[in-house]
Amino acid sequence: MYRDTPHAIHLKDYRPPEFLIDAVDLRFDLDPERTTVEAKLALRRNPAATRGDGDLRLHGEQLDLERIAVNGHPLTPSEYEVHQEGLTLHRVPDQFGLETRVRIHPSLNTALEGLYQSGEMLCTQCEAEGFRRITYFLDRPDVMATYSTTLVADKRRFPVLLSNGNPVESRDLDGGRHLMRWEDPFPKPSYLFALIAGDLKAVEDSFSTASGREVALKIYVEPHNLDKCDHAMRSLKKAMRWDEERFGREYDLDIFMIVAVSHFNMGAMENKGLNVFNDKFVLARPDTATDVDFDGIESVIAHEYFHNWTGNRITCRDWFQLSLKEGFTVYRDQEFSADVGSRGVKRIGDVRLLRAHQLPEDEGPLAHPVRPDSYIEINNFYTATVYQKGAEVVRMQANLLGPELFRKATDLYFERHDGQAVTTDDFVRCMEDASGRDLEQFRLWYQQAGTPELSVQEAFDADSGRYSLSVRQHTPPTPGQPLKEPFHIPIAVGLLGQDGEDLPLQLEGDTTPSAPGTRVLELTNSEQSFTFVGLEAKPVPSLLRGFPAPVKLKTEASDDDLLFLMAHDSDGFNRWDAAQTLMQRLLLALVDDAEAELPERFFAAFEQALMDAQSDKALLAEVLTPPSEGYLGDQMAVVDVDGIHRAHSVLGRRVGERLRDALLEVYRANDGSEPYAFMPDDVGRRALKNLALGYLAKAGDAEALAAAQAQFEAARNMTDVMAALRLLVDHGGEAGTRALDHFYGRWSGEPLVVDKWLSVQATSPREDTLERVIALMGHADFSLRNPNRVRSLIGAFCNANQVRFHASDGRGYRFLADRVLELNPLNPQIAARLLKAMVRWRRFDAGRQALMRAEIARILDAEALSADVYEVASKALG
Ligand code: PHE
Ligand code: ZN
Repeated sequence: MYRDTPHAIHLKDYRPPEFLIDAVDLRFDLDPERTTVEAKLALRRNPAATRGDGDLRLHGEQLDLERIAVNGHPLTPSEYEVHQEGLTLHRVPDQFGLETRVRIHPSLNTALEGLYQSGEMLCTQCEAEGFRRITYFLDRPDVMATYSTTLVADKRRFPVLLSNGNPVESRDLDGGRHLMRWEDPFPKPSYLFALIAGDLKAVEDSFSTASGREVALKIYVEPHNLDKCDHAMRSLKKAMRWDEERFGREYDLDIFMIVAVSHFNMGAMENKGLNVFNDKFVLARPDTATDVDFDGIESVIAHEYFHNWTGNRITCRDWFQLSLKEGFTVYRDQEFSADVGSRGVKRIGDVRLLRAHQLPEDEGPLAHPVRPDSYIEINNFYTATVYQKGAEVVRMQANLLGPELFRKATDLYFERHDGQAVTTDDFVRCMEDASGRDLEQFRLWYQQAGTPELSVQEAFDADSGRYSLSVRQHTPPTPGQPLKEPFHIPIAVGLLGQDGEDLPLQLEGDTTPSAPGTRVLELTNSEQSFTFVGLEAKPVPSLLRGFPAPVKLKTEASDDDLLFLMAHDSDGFNRWDAAQTLMQRLLLALVDDAEAELPERFFAAFEQALMDAQSDKALLAEVLTPPSEGYLGDQMAVVDVDGIHRAHSVLGRRVGERLRDALLEVYRANDGSEPYAFMPDDVGRRALKNLALGYLAKAGDAEALAAAQAQFEAARNMTDVMAALRLLVDHGGEAGTRALDHFYGRWSGEPLVVDKWLSVQATSPREDTLERVIALMGHADFSLRNPNRVRSLIGAFCNANQVRFHASDGRGYRFLADRVLELNPLNPQIAARLLKAMVRWRRFDAGRQALMRAEIARILDAEALSADVYEVASKALG
């Protein structure tokens, strides 16, 4: 906590460390109230460092130092200084051993960084800078050491003691205590350290690697959760195989462990050989988890596993390079999910996510480059920009190089940098060296914040058969970057003939036309024109197929062209995108005038899509799902909160009324009762049928509501139960209340299911939702100390209920600010993240602006603000 203004750290100030640590020997005497940590560090001066004053400065926070010795000789207090942020030693030898003993207090650690207590177990979270809350250290990723870790604890209370690497010793000690020792042969930065102590049970399996080594796989959970690990284990084995096949990456230790914990700030953590997970991304049974949960588990398990190479074997030089590991690893997990599931649906989901979170971030006061230039608190930079846009930037390079050269480039990256801490620039250099391409201008994607806006003008000359696309790019200013250079933007286009088929594409200057399909144009100037020749009639352009770059297209396509693309485009992504643009237009027209007529051909197109027996159901469900209320707000000059909500209801109701028969037919045809399987076809079927039921319920259809009630009672899978519960709750009345009570009664013993119960209430558009949320904060199952509960109730209300959170009386804003102030001393990371729901206050009308601003100002005035909350609040007003 700061009394003075926290200061920013800048990339340009990066210096190599003055000292290196080659080996670490740790011994933990574990106890929730009072844990002792003894550390032996083998230190030496870094030959590559620019000489400083010769002092050794170690990071350390909230540590009670009990002993310190250099080469075995205890130091007297005059030989070192302890301060708020660490420890300074003067006049140390060029090479020496440092021993320290500190005391820490896991049960008091509510920030969940460092060593903390979660329920009955002890666990660690060290990324980004948590290790300094465990022992004095050079807690920066460019200091890589081998670790030997001894864990001592009461055997009855903590029978399982885990750390990174391989187990090398296990024995009982006096007084009911026991000891386990682990050794990790791979040098790693401190943020990848982990330990776990608890009364856990493991689901075990094994994996034989491509080169024939056997790896023991273990997923540790509390005993009552052993029946919820199958899907996680299956996902892990799939991911291990896929990484061998697609990237040539094998696992390197003899054992790989996953532990599920119930108090966790993020999704999961890739600690070497010992991944620690938010239990939400491990535990699933068909009756407790939805398709979305199963999907999330598969991709997060893969993501953390993939970090073993992209993050652990090759790590980040400093935290400005965070996207080096996160952008690349997200790209890898996206590709994995695309390969094991449905590629088209995956791409749509990823773009939806990017548009929902990253675009707004890029347009708001917290906009930052994929490789930021500065930060106050690194925990605030685990953002959609670093993760999702970072993945898009890797994807663009993969597409520019093509599959073979990209594989050659990643092989080069793994070979050249194994065991090193490197930069995003090193990554791009591998792409260049393997392909011979010049990516100098491309590097701007890492350096410039903001989303480029593309506008396209078409011109057709019937006499010459020439068709040209004039493309302009413009990137609006972002904080600290008023002027932008043009980006290097790949634009995938196709041209459709009148029959809806792809035309052959012949660019001016080409000697022969390329086959019908997609062609990638490379835009490098602020304005550029591309001319196709040999056309008999004006084609319909299909622009940005597959979303080739994280840009915004200002489309001038007519409604007719969009309907045409929706029906014919060979690119599934663009069929979806055309439908989205069309629905967006209809919805915005309804915002202006809720009585506006909807064009007949819209219903016709909708019905035609719905009745198309051939189409992929998951894809169809995506096509027929309208853009969210939040996304619609982003498309308006001033967000009209109530108008958007009304428009959404009107559209839903009119579709439900007009297409009643078709919707009922689709619902019935897809309402199977076979046992649950997480298979693309089944997932698609459930999505489509629940979408149909949703439209019918919006129309207040009695038959649909009866069907929802029946589905709620009969369904054995959580996907269908939740879909039905949502409709009953939103429809209101007795049925909704009864369903909620019944649901809670059935699932009160399962915290992750209780989270769903909280969220469904927090996101309901009903008028009394805020009162309910406040009441639920007093519920026995709610706790501000558990991030999953906070996100399910408070996070869901503030981020996924635009109409109620942004109520014009400002009570939602006051509610959020109060929670941020409550959480600030408990868990600054979670507090700062919640506050982000209010940073785009300038997008709203004057009344709401004033209310939000006042709440942010109130937060900024509070005493003892954490660096995390201070950074978000001050930048929001800045
Ligand atoms: N590195 C983790 C991941 O993306 C995220 C994380 C960051 C977890 C910080 C905890 C703390 O896989
Ligand atoms: Zn990650």
